[in-house]
Amino acid sequence: MTTKVSLADAPGAMTVPLLDLKAQYATIKPELDLAVHAVLDSGRFIQGPEVTGLEAEVAAYSRVAHGAGVASGTDALLLALKALGVGPGDEVVTTAYSFFASASTIALLGATPVFCDIEPETYNLDPAKLASCLTAKTRAVVPVHLFGQCADMPAILALCEPRGIPVLEDAAQAIGSEWQGKRAGEMGVAACFSFFPSKNLGGIGDGGMVVARDEALIDRVRLLREHGARPKYHHHVLGQNSRLDALQAAVLRVKLRHLEAWHAGRQANAARYRELLAGTDVGLPVARSEARHIYNQFVVRTPKRDALKQHLGDAGVGTEVYYPRPLHLQECFAALGHGAGDFPQSEAAAAETLALPIYPELTGEQIAYVSSRIHALLGAR
Ligand SMILES: Cc1ncc(COP(=O)(O)O)c(C=O)c1O
Repeated sequence: MTTKVSLADAPGAMTVPLLDLKAQYATIKPELDLAVHAVLDSGRFIQGPEVTGLEAEVAAYSRVAHGAGVASGTDALLLALKALGVGPGDEVVTTAYSFFASASTIALLGATPVFCDIEPETYNLDPAKLASCLTAKTRAVVPVHLFGQCADMPAILALCEPRGIPVLEDAAQAIGSEWQGKRAGEMGVAACFSFFPSKNLGGIGDGGMVVARDEALIDRVRLLREHGARPKYHHHVLGQNSRLDALQAAVLRVKLRHLEAWHAGRQANAARYRELLAGTDVGLPVARSEARHIYNQFVVRTPKRDALKQHLGDAGVGTEVYYPRPLHLQECFAALGHGAGDFPQSEAAAAETLALPIYPELTGEQIAYVSSRIHALLGAR
């Protein structure tokens, strides 16, 4: 993985999937199998030491004191927002260009998602456009650290803190990412992670976590994830069943030990793509100097996106469009009254971006092959 590659290394036709979880499993099979069997042997599948262990380890990794494991990244957002008191009549600001759950969780709580456009370079919430989104009803702001690069949190916090508005980090794609040396989770009032298998820290199914400095906030999430009951069968608030399985926690604890090496692998792959694609018309991801980008996705940009996707698919290369339709134009949000042109940067990104394979086990030859196929379509400048 560390050898330098050039386009001359590009082999003939080969298959390069967008993500290869079997390749990852092969690198850690003995320790992962051991952890899975230990859970099976324990007979302890709900809560227990694997879950509390993972909560402590992910919180420490994120440089905060507390974590609450939940059933998914979506539930992490839902329960964190609920714990912050978000409900009907409130407005919550988030980006118009993200995965659906960044906004759906706001609406599911009866609050109104207020969309903010993105910076065209990083695809993250544009702080310059945030002030005009804030009103007396704003109950929280949810910036998304998209593709593994933190949003400009100091600029966002500078607008929200004086107004007393909590900032909840949607760090579903960004565990371990940093901005000016501060880690995702360390900057907002809390951060939400997803352990969906495609994330840098991915389980063998769904999972998520809320981390925060504030023990009371995390305690509230813990209450909400267990039907609002404490003790059992005594329900203080309307919660739900949103626990993280012990099996997922055990798997994630093993994988957490490899996470820094996997981040480094992704960063090295990104650097290789940058070298090899430098002479093409493809726009490369902008990694801001303030950021530690963990490259959950390596997203390139071209007005010929659909042709590039087709061309790479024909050549055996897996790609994905994250996301083809911005949130304000989703049918389920029609009642918000938005139309095309409301958030031009989000709409342009949705039309032009394409994620390439970036997973850590990708070989230099595979990167050279993908790059050579891009050169073949989009040519040298
Ligand atoms: C930005 C963002 N927010 C929230 C989520 C929701 O996480 P999950 O799929 O674990 O529910 C995701 C996952 O894809 C995401 O990418």
